[in-house]
Amino acid sequence: MGYKVAVVGATGNVGREMLSILAERGFPADEVVAVASRRSQGTEVSFGDKTLKVQALEHVDFSDVDICVMSAGGSISKEWSPKIGAEKCVVIDNSSAWRYDEDVPLVVPEVNADAAAGFTKKYIIANPNCSTAQLVVALKPLHDKAGIRRVVVSTYQSVSGAGKDAMDELFTQTRAIFVSDPVEPKKFPKRIAFNLIPHIDVFMEDGFTKEEWKMTAETKKILDPKIKLTATCVRVPVFISHSEVVNIEFENPISADEARSILREAPGCLVVDKHEPGGYITPYEAAGEDATYISRIREDITVENGLTMWVVSDNLRKGAALNAVQIAEVLINRGLLKPKKAA
Ligand SMILES: NC(=O)c1ccc[n+]([C@@H]2O[C@H](COP(=O)([O-])OP(=O)(O)OC[C@H]3O[C@@H](n4cnc5c(N)ncnc54)[C@H](OP(=O)(O)O)[C@@H]3O)[C@@H](O)[C@H]2O)c1
Repeated sequence: MGYKVAVVGATGNVGREMLSILAERGFPADEVVAVASRRSQGTEVSFGDKTLKVQALEHVDFSDVDICVMSAGGSISKEWSPKIGAEKCVVIDNSSAWRYDEDVPLVVPEVNADAAAGFTKKYIIANPNCSTAQLVVALKPLHDKAGIRRVVVSTYQSVSGAGKDAMDELFTQTRAIFVSDPVEPKKFPKRIAFNLIPHIDVFMEDGFTKEEWKMTAETKKILDPKIKLTATCVRVPVFISHSEVVNIEFENPISADEARSILREAPGCLVVDKHEPGGYITPYEAAGEDATYISRIREDITVENGLTMWVVSDNLRKGAALNAVQIAEVLINRGLLKPKKAA
């Protein structure tokens, strides 16, 4: 007997990817319900070779739904996740609304799958920020080997991380520039076409942005509170996949060759690292893929026990939809959640 799954935000970037990943992986669902705002009620979205009619969130009865994968933004999640959780429907939420709540597990299955069992307090599990998800997948096996002391990460984040309107803005601005039309920033604070912007999410009092703060806080919660991490997050004119330059200081020695062979065996990681033109992964190649790709692994001789590497992954997949579906699979495979119908 299968599960009943609701995908909230089904018309959005992440929601559409959720539907295709559920279909691709043969998720054990008897029924999938596509949910969005009232604006989209009655429109259709694809689910494998079927189409689903979108229902408005207000009209969905969650009492017989087992799992709700939610990607409709923080304020919708704040309002709706507790109500849906109260129906004993597990919410796996993509927004930042619940990530720092002590009673809500923040899970990347390759790193801390055991934490998922803590969902019973609120029936909510949080998915991390897209930049954090791919980072911790790559850090975990190295941390296990040599103990990470400090990480300095610079991100090169695609526009799809800011939603479907942001993708349209890159497209529209690029076209406008070619035909000499005026360029009007709307979603981004400055022009994004043929440019980049060192600012994602709001500024905090200390000068860091919220996106940068999230990477620090979430890495501590998922991987190890002792790890010190400082981030600089940059939006770049790329449609899909986030890239990161990651500089790591370890407690114990680890060579580039050792790191390469550890990462080759690590779950979710794929090493592409040849010292020749094209012997590395670019965001374009990672789009549509599940892996966290790691290239350019080298020793940083300016510190004791240092490594630098290049980490790329599809932000809509490992950074959001894939990770959420993997969390649901953990609940099912570990027997933590039975279909309501079976009760
Ligand atoms: N993009 C990423 O890489 C990424 C990664 C991790 C987490 N996230 C998070 O995932 C969430 C969605 O991101 P996205 O990129 O998919 O955004 P998006 O493309 O803008 O889509 C937003 C979705 O939310 C729905 N929605 C908006 N208001 C709603 C309401 N009142 N009731 C029900 N549904 C509503 C929209 O439905 P309508 O079409 O009807 O408006 C749409 O389906 C955000 O919280 C984001 O921070 C995104």
